[in-house]
Amino acid sequence: MTARLHYGTPAKVFHWLIVALLAVQYPIGWLMPDIHRGMQPGTAMTFHVSIGLAILLLTALRLAWRITHPVAPESSLPSWQRLSSEAVHWVLYVLVLATTISGWLFASYRGWSISFFYLTPLPTLASDNAAAGRAIDGWHQAAEWTLLVVIGIHVAAALAHVFIYRDRVMHRMLPG
Ligand code: HEM
Ligand code: HEM
Repeated sequence: MTARLHYGTPAKVFHWLIVALLAVQYPIGWLMPDIHRGMQPGTAMTFHVSIGLAILLLTALRLAWRITHPVAPESSLPSWQRLSSEAVHWVLYVLVLATTISGWLFASYRGWSISFFYLTPLPTLASDNAAAGRAIDGWHQAAEWTLLVVIGIHVAAALAHVFIYRDRVMHRMLPG
């Protein structure tokens, strides 16, 4: 498949929609009430789960779009930057999937009934299992923090292209 030179509108819409949802998801995750034995998800947790699963769905669609509509790295970049940006993009995909799936497994192991914004029930990935739930909680936290660090590196690189290299890399992801 021939790689295009520019991101199309769907790739840009997916990118910024997921950025916006992650910007809401982290504060909800940190501010929602702590979990206690035997509790069922309240409003904040239902929103956290629902937004997380929306991020999972959009990331899966976006990944399918990226694979079927490949975009070549910016041609003016030195090869180390092309390779490292491609690597960071793939790591971002893997970490978003790891964070969302570990969260979904956590909710499943607690035996919760979860819904998508109270509109429709969501399937569970596994049955009630307290020991597995404790283990996967650690994985969700490790994944969410690693994702945040890699997002930090990705954003720092984007800003370096705006303010230091002063090239067109940032424009590739902007409207137009
Ligand atoms: C990329 C998407 C997600 C991000 C960035 C994220 C982030 C977070 C954060 C920051 C916390 C607070 C943990 C802490 O105190 O350090 C948290 C907790 C939690 N998340 Fe997520 N989450 C995501 C997706 C999901 C999904 C899809 C589910 C379930 C379907 C989920 C279920 C939970 C649960 C049950 C907790 C409470 C357990 C705990 O404190 O670790 N998360 N999440
Ligand atoms: C303010 C925050 C962000 C800025 C300024 C930004 C900027 C950019 C830019 C300029 C590109 C194009 C790079 C190139 O062509 O080589 C890009 C691509 C990409 N960004 Fe971001 N980004 C941000 C947040 C995020 C977040 C939170 C994620 C995911 C968790 C993400 C994932 C990706 C991926 C996977 C690509 C590759 C293109 C694709 O597969 O659609 N970005 N970003």
